[in-house]
Amino acid sequence: MTATFDYSGRSVFVAGGTSGINLGIAEAFAAAGAQVGVGSRSQEKVDAAVARLGDARPAFGYVFDVRDTEAVTGALSGFAETVGSIDVVVSGAAGNFPALARDISPNGFKAVVDIDLIGTYHVMKAAYPHMRRPGGSLINISAPQAQVAMAQQIHVCAAKAGVDMVTRCLAIEWGSEGLRVNGVCPGPIDGTEGMARLAPTPERRAQAAASVPLGRMGVPADVAAVCLFLGSDAASYVNGAIVPADGGWLLSGAPMGL
Ligand code: NAP
Ligand code: COA
Repeated sequence: MTATFDYSGRSVFVAGGTSGINLGIAEAFAAAGAQVGVGSRSQEKVDAAVARLGDARPAFGYVFDVRDTEAVTGALSGFAETVGSIDVVVSGAAGNFPALARDISPNGFKAVVDIDLIGTYHVMKAAYPHMRRPGGSLINISAPQAQVAMAQQIHVCAAKAGVDMVTRCLAIEWGSEGLRVNGVCPGPIDGTEGMARLAPTPERRAQAAASVPLGRMGVPADVAAVCLFLGSDAASYVNGAIVPADGGWLLSGAPMGL
């Protein structure tokens, strides 16, 4: 992707930034000149992401589970100690599996809410003291499930709707400190773990692509471009928005369903 924003001298942390869409976001910020930190549960994934991101300048990796508030706090503090104040934080760690409400166990429901919703809260709270003021930007990765009810997605719908409300509440509370908090809502993004789980067959993938008004699934760079904008001064009056990067999918109610 060609960088159209200049992030030289800026620092960006992407929670859950070691694969898929979030890694694409981290790559876009690195390509635009930022010093990037990423973190997730798997040491192997963290190491691979850091190696991939570290071409132009060193990238920083942290192993943590977003459900562990102390570990998340340690990672954000460690990154801030290395880079100074943080310009942009993206919170994108998430879990998903298709399961009917009658079949999902209480622990299965809780696992997804803990990762997506409580994890987002942990990342926001841990980032807060380290953000550049004024001018810092926090971005939470949402999903169509936050706005549209879907079968086999009760856990994700509940969790991501909560994520959007975290975004909006923080936008109100932190705006006066010169921090902006926004969300990005990807549509179906090709080649990702999320789509592999929700559309596991070629037929389902074709159905997903055809259900997007633009006639194709997205790619991680489509989501990253919105993050580059939201993290930049060009978005200095955008606060509390959930910006779609979905080819218009939500306009017709994310019609693919499950
Ligand atoms: P993905 O590749 O599985 O990315 C999830 C990332 O989060 C990975 O880096 C994973 O690394 C990390 N992670 C998962 N659980 C974690 C935990 N408990 N603590 C810390 N890190 C954790 O999935 P993706 O499909 O690209 O999705 C990325 C984001 O986009 C998610 O927020 C998802 O809801 C959203 N989204 C995706 C789509 C889509 O089409 N794929 C559509 C709408 C929204 P580890 O395994 O190492 O922890
Ligand atoms: N259907 C129904 N329930 C499932 C399930 C499935 N496909 N996969 C997991 N669960 C349930 C488990 O049975 C367990 O409940 P139980 O204790 O009552 O049996 C609960 O969810 C937690 O599972 P566990 O494997 O211990 O959780 P984890 O914390 O190791 O992993 C997940 C979290 C389940 C969300 C896992 O899929 C994950 O790590 N996902 C990250 C990658 C991802 O989902 N990417 C797409 C992002 S959109």
